[in-house]
Amino acid sequence: MSLSNSSLPVTDEQKQLFSRILDRTADRVAADELGFGVEFPQVTGPDGEWVRLPASLSAGYDGDAWSHGNWFCGFWVGLLLTSHLHTGEARFLEWARARMRLVEQRAHDPNTHDIGFIFDSSAVPGHHVTGDAWFADIALAAADKLRARLVTTRAGAYLASWGPLSDPRGRSASAIDTMANLSLLYWAANYADDGSYRHAADAHAEMTARAFVRSDDSTYHAVEYALESGARKRGYTFQGAFDESAWSRGQAWAIYGYVNSARETGKRAYLDLAERLADYYVRRLDGRHVPPWDFDASGREAEIKDTAAAAIVASALIEMARVHPDAQSAQKWGRHGLAMLEALCRDEFTKDGQHGLLHNSCYSKPHGIGVDGATMFGDFFFVEALCRVVHPGGLRPLDAPHIPLA
Ligand code: GLY
Repeated sequence: MSLSNSSLPVTDEQKQLFSRILDRTADRVAADELGFGVEFPQVTGPDGEWVRLPASLSAGYDGDAWSHGNWFCGFWVGLLLTSHLHTGEARFLEWARARMRLVEQRAHDPNTHDIGFIFDSSAVPGHHVTGDAWFADIALAAADKLRARLVTTRAGAYLASWGPLSDPRGRSASAIDTMANLSLLYWAANYADDGSYRHAADAHAEMTARAFVRSDDSTYHAVEYALESGARKRGYTFQGAFDESAWSRGQAWAIYGYVNSARETGKRAYLDLAERLADYYVRRLDGRHVPPWDFDASGREAEIKDTAAAAIVASALIEMARVHPDAQSAQKWGRHGLAMLEALCRDEFTKDGQHGLLHNSCYSKPHGIGVDGATMFGDFFFVEALCRVVHPGGLRPLDAPHIPLA
């Protein structure tokens, strides 16, 4: 068990490469920041330009159509903060503070689990990097709203992912993405010394493990629960190829969430599950470093990649290497994570003069949004992974794992 990343089998060459990529990231972030005005980047469009949205765009129903709102805005604050961490330049911190003020209002959005993504990538690192309680207060307000999304059934409790809880459409459904949002609750439990946040996250992780993970260790994107019994009524997808397919980013969110849940609860079963989910992912990669957007996509669609999924998994496996109590397993997962990250730096980092960091992300193939371009979440988790190697403990607290050996 180690607090630093000393168990990571990283070479000097890899460290230098990752540091150079963080230099280039800071240059690109500075250039883009000046062009955004009060809006925030979402995905790059077919013309290579960022599509931009205001932070105030909340999640909500318009008739039967659900809008996710702007769940991307916190990631940009996170990129400004990582650029400050890496370069030490004050301008990045000034920009991050100004942007945090624009994003802050979303901490009170009662309609979406995405407040986890928004504030775990912005206010949590903002507090860690600066020590300023203003950031922590914002993150805690968002954690309260996320914890309030807990729906209790006879079979356990889960966090409903989308919609007002008074609306049965939202109340009865959860998504695998929510596993990655638990980070905000774990942070709040530690920061406020209030175990209720951890209980909520742990309950969600337990129920998700039962309802979302198929017998081959692939995962459903979404599950509809029977509200009283908590039984799974159906597993389905919004962004995958079909309901029973293996949407690669969903698998990535699951791996990421169970590594964090293992570290924060000390439950060995979560680490074992994270390893099974990662084994499935590596098996389906079949020697590649970047997955297709859906492992079960066919024909020409199977050629569309998702570098965002690769970045999320790389970050998760580098963390798995840090928290794994077995040295051999830690080395194995560290090697996988580093190889994925190196491939992203060498093959997928966008050319100079282009916007965004990682090419070939895929936000939503079925909706035709953000296919074959950069996505804010892909870029953020890529940089998080780089920081885990180059600046361990710089971006977030390095929570001590207490996971027993098998
Ligand atoms: N909603 C998270 C995702 O698109 O992966």
